[in-house]
This record gives sequence, C-alpha cells and structure tokens, in this order.
Amino acid sequence: MAGEPTVTDEAVASLHATADPRLRELLTGLVRHLHAFARESQLTQEEWERAIGFLTATGQACTDTRQEFILLSDVLGLSMLLETINERQGPGATESTVLGPFHMTESPVRALGANIDLVGDGEPCVVSGRVLSRDGGPLPGAVVDVWQADAHGFYDVQRPDVQPPGNGRGLFTADAEGRFWFRTCVPSPYPIPTDGPVGDLLRATGRHPYRPAHIHFIASAAGHTPVTTHIFVAGSEYLDSDAVFAVKPSLVQDFESTDDPSLAREFGVDNPFRHARFDLVLERS
Ligand code: BEZ
Ligand code: FE
Repeated sequence: MAGEPTVTDEAVASLHATADPRLRELLTGLVRHLHAFARESQLTQEEWERAIGFLTATGQACTDTRQEFILLSDVLGLSMLLETINERQGPGATESTVLGPFHMTESPVRALGANIDLVGDGEPCVVSGRVLSRDGGPLPGAVVDVWQADAHGFYDVQRPDVQPPGNGRGLFTADAEGRFWFRTCVPSPYPIPTDGPVGDLLRATGRHPYRPAHIHFIASAAGHTPVTTHIFVAGSEYLDSDAVFAVKPSLVQDFESTDDPSLAREFGVDNPFRHARFDLVLERS
C-alpha cells in the first residue's frame, strides 16, 4: 500500500519500464526531489492546490507572443543555472546567457550597417565587432541574430500598436573578415512582464522586475557551436540585481561616447556617437 513511508519507492519503481533510460533517470530524480521537498516543508493540501492554480495560470498566460513558463524559469534562476551547467565553451570564448522569452519571432534579414531602430526615438549608437573562432581567425559568413527592446524598454511584440514588426531585430551576415556592424538605439533597463502569474510571484516575494540595459545575440557559424548571449551596457542600473540573474562580468561593455567624424561618416551616423565594440568568439564544434 502506498502510505507515506513507502510511496516514494513505489512511485520510483513504477517508472522501471520507461524505455528511454535518460527519461527514466530524469523522472526518477524528479519524483525523489519532489517527495523530499514535500516532506521537508510539510506541504499542506491547500498549499499544493494553490501551487497547481499558479501553474495552471502560468500555462493559460502563454500565447504565440508570450511565454510565461520561460519567464518563470528565468525568475527562479533555473534558466541561468542551465546555461552554466551546459556551458561548453573554453576560455576566451564568448560566455552565454539566457535566451529570454522575446526571441519568438524571426529577425528580419538586414544588410551590415542597417539601423534596427525603426522608430528612431532613442539615443543612436553603433554596435560593431567580429565573429571569431576560439582557435583564432575570423569567421566570414557567420550569422549574427540581434534583438533588443526599444528606448522605452519594450519589445516590438509587446507593443505592436507603436512599433512596427521587426523593430529592434536584425539578422546579419558577417563580411569576409568576420566583421559585423549595425546601428540601433542605446537600450534602457526594463521590467520583465509583470501582468501575469510571474508578476504575482515577484510581488509576493518583494522583488523588483527590472533587467539592466542589454542587447541579445545569437551568433552561429559553420563548424562552431552557436552562442546565445547579451551585451550589457556598462553603468546601467540593475547590473547588480538583474531579475533573471543573467549578468556575467565579461558581457558588460562600454557604449563609448565617440567623437570621430570620419568613423561617423563610415557608419552613417551623426558625430559624436555612442559605440559598443564586441567580438563574438565561438568554440569549434
Ligand atoms: C529578456 O531579456 O528579453 C528577458 C529575459 C528573461 C526574462 C524576461 C525578459
Ligand atoms: Fe531582453
């Protein structure tokens, strides 16, 4: 009989016929840890019902343009823990960080140097760098996928009434020397969405919802492991208390004030301008 002392062993034993060994391992660990948690915290029926209500509401908040479960994983630090556990890059390669829930639409293909700030009400800046192999050497033809919130802290999918689709997004192909560059606006800190169950969780725990200013990247190249990462704006508020724990010191970059008329002409921006330089270094696969 499945009473309190034996139910864990019985529930684990019920998994013995799972054909996929990895699935058996994961489910066994999950059952053991869930049972240990329930015992250790003396979880009540009412508390478990409330948790089920919360998870149900989290699923119901998901739409084609909103992923509340990713958000939940992010604010619990699980997304960042998985990044760390699964990080395979050697020293010198660009460190990864969370994907976040806003990479749900394909970035439009854009020419090098294009402006991804289609609204144009932020402080203009240039982001440039090279995609390199950790072995050394540039990666011509590498693909750099970029997405960011606008100067007011919203992604295009959050405010389709004021931002055209693809605002703040671009898919760039590095040139023959592995270089990429584009124009945008300096991003600002923003709150993650708080109008759903994850917002309730943050309020119940007295946490703020803000992320420091950042731009997202996925860089990929033939023969190399893609990296999902951000650059964070040096000096931004919330670098020390990112709501999703995603800051790594190596990813914090100066958006330098640059007074260089000929470089400004080259990039097609007014002088002086803000400029972030950032190389994306990939590990061979
Ligand atoms: C983001 O940076 O887009 C993001 C990451 C995690 C949670 C919410 C937003
Ligand atoms: Fe973001």
